[in-house]
Amino acid sequence: MEQQQETPGTAVLIKAAGPIVVASKCIVTKADGTVDVKEKVSFCGCGASANKPYCDGSHKQLMSAENKTV
Ligand code: FES
Repeated sequence: MEQQQETPGTAVLIKAAGPIVVASKCIVTKADGTVDVKEKVSFCGCGASANKPYCDGSHKQLMSAENKTV
């Protein structure tokens, strides 16, 4: 009997205190009903983005501010 090959799925990378990166084409339906089609997307996982649901890089400032207080 032949073994079935595993089909690779979508790669999702969750960074600590940072974005959730989906490395695959995505159709994103936002809360307001608008739809974006992206080849690869980074969703905000820190809550600081001014462009939610997407990461705008604000997590970097958040992380450096936390490092200064620790
Ligand atoms: S994860 Fe990048 S701005 Fe939130």
